[in-house]
Amino acid sequence: MIDKQLLKEDFAKYFGEGEPRFFAAPGRINIIGEHTDYNGGFVLPGAVDKAISMAIRPNGTDIVNLISIDHEDAHLFFRIGGPQPKEQWASYFYGVIEEMRQRGAKIGGFNAIFGGDVPLGAGMSSSAALESCVSTALNAIYDLKFTKQELAKIGQMTEHHYIGVRCGIMDQFASIFGQKGHVVRLDCRSLMFDLVPFKPKGIEIVLIDTMVKHSLASSEYNVRRAQCEEGVDVIKKYLPDVQLLRDVSIEELEAHRSEIDPIAYRRCAFVINENKRLMAACAAMEKGDFEEVGRQIYATHDGLSQEYGVSCAELDFIVDIAREHKEVLGARMMGGGFGGCVIALVKKEGVESYVEDVKERYQVKFDKEPRVIEVEISDGAREI
Ligand code: GLA
Repeated sequence: MIDKQLLKEDFAKYFGEGEPRFFAAPGRINIIGEHTDYNGGFVLPGAVDKAISMAIRPNGTDIVNLISIDHEDAHLFFRIGGPQPKEQWASYFYGVIEEMRQRGAKIGGFNAIFGGDVPLGAGMSSSAALESCVSTALNAIYDLKFTKQELAKIGQMTEHHYIGVRCGIMDQFASIFGQKGHVVRLDCRSLMFDLVPFKPKGIEIVLIDTMVKHSLASSEYNVRRAQCEEGVDVIKKYLPDVQLLRDVSIEELEAHRSEIDPIAYRRCAFVINENKRLMAACAAMEKGDFEEVGRQIYATHDGLSQEYGVSCAELDFIVDIAREHKEVLGARMMGGGFGGCVIALVKKEGVESYVEDVKERYQVKFDKEPRVIEVEISDGAREI
């Protein structure tokens, strides 16, 4: 996370007098439960110790003045209620403001400087971190009284309406509700959740970033979502209570297989099975059986790769190497897919040899160095 003192000095340098307030919101990991959120299923994310942080102060006008530290201090401004800026990073601000205004909020202009250490393109939700940071900050400085659930929804709808990705709610929810040492077991339909302690003894979370992000990521994401809806539309004709894949059993899906496009069928089957894997992993976690959690994680990767079609050669390679190391309990691609990172649960004594093996062989195969990302499960969005 960017040091508060540095933010303070930079704010003074660009915007002069006046004491800003400071906010931060983290990226996330997800233990298991991928592509289940927009199907009303369960997810198991945790907030991490990598965050976007921001210094912000109202400026008494209707202009939003922004400096992005991560874009070499690029400066950009837009008028509240005016046209959407072209730059994506500014659109996150614009979108959050518009979503809040549509919900009746009165928001004035402000000066803000922001930056962070959530790795971009690694599938750790740097964009949700930014949305959650902006929404948490505006909620506080304008005393808007949105609930945390509403803030998560505002971030999600920013993605839908201003970025063009029809994402689920996992990332924004984790960034806002995360708690140190806990994962969030979230029911994405009701938004009820439990904070589950996650400190497996002698086991580490290892993230290895492929350093690739295939351009298909956001378009194919929307295609997957549409394929799930296609399956639901068929089942609905027979079972009118069904609204989301969450409501469908594998037997019900199977019963109508002939009417569903074969690719859509595979996507739907993955989601239904993934929800079951999450349940099995949670039950195993309760018993402290991380060998079983690991098996479910490997099975998730197979599903994401073969049934859901969102993995890539680089991710598969890093997971395949994991299978050769008996200290790796489980490994899989994490997040939306088409690049980003692998999350692995590894016994402490096996971390180094797995990581070194991946580094060496990945370099040879892809002529690229993977990045190892150290994370700790930390607190969600907050004033700092
Ligand atoms: C992205 C989306 C999330 C979720 C994951 C896949 O991170 O933003 O809503 O769908 O992909 O689980």
